[in-house]
Amino acid sequence: MSPSYASRTPRRTGSDTRPPAPPTPRLHFVTGKGGSGKTTLASALALALADEGHKVLLVELEGRQDLAGVFGIAPLPYGERLVTSGLGGGEVYGLAIDTEEAFLEYLEMFYRMGSAGKVLHKVGAVDFATTVAPGLKDILLTGKLKEITSRSAGGRWIYDAVVVDSPPTGRIARFLNVTVESGRLATTGPIGRHSRSVATLLHSPQTTVHIAALPTAMALQECLETVAELRAVDLPVGRVLLNQVVPDVYRPVERTGLEDALRRVGVEPDGGLTEALLAQYERRRGQVEAQRRYVGRLREEDVSYVAVPELTGGVDAGSLYSLAETIRSGLDGAAEPFGERTSPETRAEEERDPPPTDGTDSTGGSA
Ligand SMILES: Nc1ncnc2c1ncn2[C@@H]1O[C@H](COP(=O)(O)OP(=O)(O)O)[C@@H](O)[C@H]1O
Ligand SMILES: [Mg+2]
Repeated sequence: MSPSYASRTPRRTGSDTRPPAPPTPRLHFVTGKGGSGKTTLASALALALADEGHKVLLVELEGRQDLAGVFGIAPLPYGERLVTSGLGGGEVYGLAIDTEEAFLEYLEMFYRMGSAGKVLHKVGAVDFATTVAPGLKDILLTGKLKEITSRSAGGRWIYDAVVVDSPPTGRIARFLNVTVESGRLATTGPIGRHSRSVATLLHSPQTTVHIAALPTAMALQECLETVAELRAVDLPVGRVLLNQVVPDVYRPVERTGLEDALRRVGVEPDGGLTEALLAQYERRRGQVEAQRRYVGRLREEDVSYVAVPELTGGVDAGSLYSLAETIRSGLDGAAEPFGERTSPETRAEEERDPPPTDGTDSTGGSA
């Protein structure tokens, strides 16, 4: 079962002006096939979680500086930096984790390396070590995420939530499970202890893994495989963030009806125009049917999803907030607007609003 986000902690009243305690889970991974919207949706999720004064850290792992592109800012340093404000008065910070820096930090933490660390860096030992042992890199990255997520002061978390633009679906289960293996291998000593503490966090209710996916037949298979892989190693599956969903406004259309409609708006249909419109209609209908099959399969597998609309004008800083609204409604359990009814007959009886495509939130109703 996916965790429910519906019961947010109520606002404190009176003179206590601190924001309410953050909801669980707090550590959100967003995986997905390349191009499915991982970076975009991780960013929108961070905005969504930065409500009620919450402070959220959005993390990039592999140094491509994609977050800088999404928010139109200078490349992120290896150090947390305020990026923007969240939906409800919260703050979103950004961090691009650099593996070398994380490695040196790790050595410092466990072995008090001092200047020896800088020497290692100079001779390229870090690069060497992480290249010969790719698992080591994942241990460092997940270790850094645990350190960030666990930081607290005065009985409160420093970050109410941490959102990670994560490795792609093909690597995610291995990435998140690496510390289980290293914890078993190194039974004594700091690496073993560290690995086990990271593994404990990643397998706890504090953690959730969302999957960004395009609603196509091909992507469905990969998405279901990822769900199965995550479940097989007891990693908590969050939501499928079904991205670039098109409005489900299917009505049967045939040639004469279409030509009549064109004439009514003063366009004399020639063969070319009618053919082009019919072909476009067929394409859309195919897309909508694939979406319906997709959500049908997700339901069979007991996977919750959030339908995220295709933004026809592309994604910019402003439209990111509208995606955040959709995601927030989805996390609260309100938004599964697509695929509620799977047969055209039922839909014809009772028209439903399509997912928003124009930045307005049509998903706020209660489920
Ligand atoms: N809901 C959406 N509507 C329209 N375009 C989108 C949407 N989500 C993502 N995109 C665009 O799709 C492309 C891939 O998205 P991105 O987040 O970079 O994917 P990934 O990180 O998985 O490679 C980008 O150009 C992005 O702006
Ligand atoms: Mg990306």
